Amino acid sequence: MITIMSTGFPPHRACVEGKESGWSDRMEITFRLNGEIITTNESQTRTLLDYLRETRGLTGTKEGCNEGDCGACTVMVEDVDGKKPLNACILFLPQLQGKSVTTVEGLAKDGTLHPAQTAMIEEHGSQCGFCTPGIIMSLVTAHANGNKAHKDVLAGNLCRCTGYAPILKAARKIENAAVPDGLDHVPFDAPSIVERPETADELAGIYAMRPDAVLVAGATDVGLWVTKQMRELDEIIFLNGVSDLKYITETEDSYEIGALTPIADLVGLFKSSSPSLSEMYRRFASTQVRAAATLGGNIANGSPIGDSPPPLIAAGASLTLRKGEDRRTIALEDFFIAYGKQDRGASEFVESVTIPKSGLNDLKAYKLSKRFDQDISAVCGAFNIIVKDGTITDARIAFGGMAGTPARAKAVEASLIGQPWNEATIAAALPAFAEDYQPMTDMRASAAYRLEAAQNMLRRYFAESQGLATSVLDVKEGA
Ligand SMILES: Cc1cc2nc3c(=O)[nH]c(=O)nc-3n(C[C@H](O)[C@H](O)[C@H](O)COP(=O)(O)OP(=O)(O)OC[C@H]3O[C@@H](n4cnc5c(N)ncnc54)[C@H](O)[C@@H]3O)c2cc1C
Ligand code: FES
Ligand code: FES
Repeated sequence: MITIMSTGFPPHRACVEGKESGWSDRMEITFRLNGEIITTNESQTRTLLDYLRETRGLTGTKEGCNEGDCGACTVMVEDVDGKKPLNACILFLPQLQGKSVTTVEGLAKDGTLHPAQTAMIEEHGSQCGFCTPGIIMSLVTAHANGNKAHKDVLAGNLCRCTGYAPILKAARKIENAAVPDGLDHVPFDAPSIVERPETADELAGIYAMRPDAVLVAGATDVGLWVTKQMRELDEIIFLNGVSDLKYITETEDSYEIGALTPIADLVGLFKSSSPSLSEMYRRFASTQVRAAATLGGNIANGSPIGDSPPPLIAAGASLTLRKGEDRRTIALEDFFIAYGKQDRGASEFVESVTIPKSGLNDLKAYKLSKRFDQDISAVCGAFNIIVKDGTITDARIAFGGMAGTPARAKAVEASLIGQPWNEATIAAALPAFAEDYQPMTDMRASAAYRLEAAQNMLRRYFAESQGLATSVLDVKEGA
């Protein structure tokens, strides 16, 4: 537990460094690295990648993009939730408090390589070798977890040389190999640190005192503020130790999901209740990013192209926000006020999301991106259209990538409700998209493309409902 003393916060070394807030830039962090428990005093935004390469001389972990895209920096991180592959380039050291990190240097035991390393050699899975340590760490983590979805496992590891065939052969080769000893790490006690609360109550208390602090959950957005935008962050509260905000509660009518639930957990959650939503989450970024990114972060960042808001708005989800002891619940769609502006006050944080199960029955989510995997959406559309006795009785349709915020297609919905569920109704509704949205042209898509793609998603939803089109899920299973 954390004790907050009346004088508050850590030693004010930050003042010496010119921090006006008095927030200390440095933290003492304890974690296990390749079997050895270490304590180090570091800047709060030092990334694991820089620490490994510059401080520890562990240069096996490579820097490719420094923004979570290429996977060259993949390491295995173990905590009470199990083993995960994570991108070290967007992982701040305080996020590792009490955890175990294995890098490629920590794999071979007494000169014996890990089976993944041997298989990569035997199958010629490495050419220039730059991507190889990251690929090995992804394979090693998947192997330890018994995960045989190799293409998924490797979607976040880019290789310019091999064409992947030999890497996939290596992955298949070790499917039945025993997991070598020495890779399991029993949890150990690490001291609490003030900037890393361990309960929602502690978070509420600290944030109330520090309303200007930046909250860091998975850091898959905030990490890039530091590594790409070179932003200097002053006060930071690290959320990933707040274990009581990592939960999924299922009742007869709904799912309540804690804000710190990783995106990875949502793939399995919706597998039977909404296969298309599950598939959309499977295509969210990469295995590494899904393991770190949280649902709360995906909503709170207010991005107009985040994948969670459109389907969850279409499903009728609500958001619980907390400030100190006070909570309020709002419809998710009302959270997004304008580009860069959300309905979230000072010291208020996203606590949970509630999704009515009834909103999932007819829900379909379509993600359109330039690359099939590991890419942010150009357009993300979600449809929840209720048809009774051939007539549309209700419609909730929401899009990302079509406006400055995730937004409902209210004119389209109005043109559908009360009409017969047929092709003529769909055709008549298409012009209403231009009333709802005036999308922009950017590097992901032109405005005209976005508008046409959104219209085609409605046509596809109809065609799928009639058995006239093959859904993405059918294609994937047959591939
Ligand atoms: C390579 C790569 C690929 C990506 N692909 C996708 C993709 O396919 N689809 C997609 O939607 N996104 C994608 N993203 C963006 C990002 O992964 C998501 O937005 C992610 O869900 C952010 O969650 P996080 O926990 O990492 O947030 P963080 O980076 O920790 O925080 C993001 C923002 O939310 C705030 N915040 C976090 N938690 C809370 C809370 N509980 N209450 C209040 N504020 C909070 C933070 O202060 C910050 O402003 C990608 C990112 C990368 C690097
Ligand atoms: S260096 Fe590319 S993902 Fe980290
Ligand atoms: S072997 Fe060269 S990038 Fe993969």
